[in-house]
Amino acid sequence: MAIEWRESLSIGVDAIDNQHKELLRRFDRLLSACQAGQGIEELKKLQAFLEEYVHTHFNDEEALQRQHHYPDYEAHHAEHLFFTEQIKALKQETEKEGVSTHHVIETNNMLLKWLLNHISKVDTKLGTFLKS
Ligand SMILES: [Fe+2]
Repeated sequence: MAIEWRESLSIGVDAIDNQHKELLRRFDRLLSACQAGQGIEELKKLQAFLEEYVHTHFNDEEALQRQHHYPDYEAHHAEHLFFTEQIKALKQETEKEGVSTHHVIETNNMLLKWLLNHISKVDTKLGTFLKS
């Protein structure tokens, strides 16, 4: 299964779309690494990216929402908080125990949820609002 960007995911703001594209590229890289038996090594590389990403990307997206007085801001922010907490929990766990296969599986599940439930639905809803 390859994870690929498609135009229907666009929210119409290049800076945000590019950040989403980058996340999907990283997710795809993790899946490829898993198929090659390199999931743990790839997750170690991905973690630092994700920690920085949730901070900058969610901040950028929320700043855009405030700027446009987006009515679903609170609910959207709550979802961002959920992913931020997941990344934080992953960091804490792997610092304590080291990265293992179940962390790779959990991260894959989280990124899948992020793509299917958040980017594909919640972020595109923001895109529809911005385009209207
Ligand atoms: Fe979002």
